[in-house]
Amino acid sequence: MTDRAPLSRKLSAIAESATLKVDAKAKALKAEGKPVISYAAGEPDFSTPQFVVDAAAEALRNPANFRYTPAAGLLPLREAIAAKTLRDSGLEVSPSQIVVTNGGKQAVYQAFQAVVNPGDEVLLPAPYWTTYPEAIRLADGVPVEVFAGADQEYKVTVEQLEAARTERTTVLVFVSPSNPTGSVYTAEETAAIGQWALEHGIWVITDEIYQNLVYEGTRAVSIVEAVPELAGQTLLLNGVAKTYAMTGWRVGWMVGPSDAIKLAANLQSHLTSNVNNIAQIAATTALSGPQDEVEEFRTAFDRRRRLIVSELAKIEGVTVPNPLGAFYAYPDVQGLLGREWKGRRIETSLELADFILDEAEVAVVPGEAFGPSGYLRLSYALGDDQLLEGVQRLQELFA
Ligand SMILES: Cc1ncc(COP(=O)(O)O)c(C=O)c1O
Repeated sequence: MTDRAPLSRKLSAIAESATLKVDAKAKALKAEGKPVISYAAGEPDFSTPQFVVDAAAEALRNPANFRYTPAAGLLPLREAIAAKTLRDSGLEVSPSQIVVTNGGKQAVYQAFQAVVNPGDEVLLPAPYWTTYPEAIRLADGVPVEVFAGADQEYKVTVEQLEAARTERTTVLVFVSPSNPTGSVYTAEETAAIGQWALEHGIWVITDEIYQNLVYEGTRAVSIVEAVPELAGQTLLLNGVAKTYAMTGWRVGWMVGPSDAIKLAANLQSHLTSNVNNIAQIAATTALSGPQDEVEEFRTAFDRRRRLIVSELAKIEGVTVPNPLGAFYAYPDVQGLLGREWKGRRIETSLELADFILDEAEVAVVPGEAFGPSGYLRLSYALGDDQLLEGVQRLQELFA
């Protein structure tokens, strides 16, 4: 008998999502009765607004929703997305320039599939969300990390991008507000990067899923609003998960020039077809209904943001740039590394995260999930009491 033929080499090289892994470990410890406080999850702790849930319940009574619908998405939803894109990203698009996807994650995957050719280099500002490098590799592209540390508020400059550019560079990933850092580029910084991409004919894949979660009067200016001529070479990714506390509903979308969108829609027609109709109707309602609850969520996040940043800053050896968006704090913890804590020598943020979970029963995601070692990501999408208790445990651990 001959050996079984090998598994896919491409998929074997894909790593499990590190954030989901830490979260799963924290949930398992909790299930064992351990008082674990988890800052690992990338999801709001609020319930989906009731009027959205009611619209979905109503949609369940309409048999038309039990059938296949167009792969690119229901027209009323694509119209609502077009209105949102104009409102929040300053870009006028028609429904034919939109594909509704199974969460923002599928939009990320399909965007790289639509514009990357084998061997293309994709500039990826680091720290980056853990899914991008894998999605780039799945499209046979080569992720090229461009690192920006806490000293530059985790924001890359045009000079850094230019230094990383080669004749094989075809795509730039631009995420503001950022997961994992919470950084938001200013309008000027965004315009400079957009101009640079335009000049060099580089595609921009801009992930705007956190664009409504901004604080201190900040506005996350879309790169296509900053540089309107860039619209012909930009794919905008978004979704309802973070803004409307709808992570489990799985509705995202991509917006872009018709030719690229057509490729993505063709791919989706073979991959998953239409997104669940009930979820699409819920998303339509969320986007076009009253936005007061979104404002309540944002206000709660802002309160927790200020609390976590000020408490983390009290730990010696920790530096936290003020995150102006999303719901993450990304402290630089290099000052805690290369030292002994409770008799344990800690060299990397991966080891530090493990130590914190073991000793303080607090779950945080190590910087290694998003780029270089030396950082931790703490999601502040958890209740105020838990939030405070968790950081106090860290303060005691590193006192
Ligand atoms: C930057 C970013 N983009 C996209 C997504 C995808 O969100 P979803 O697939 O839940 O819509 C996430 C989720 O964590 C994210 O952080």
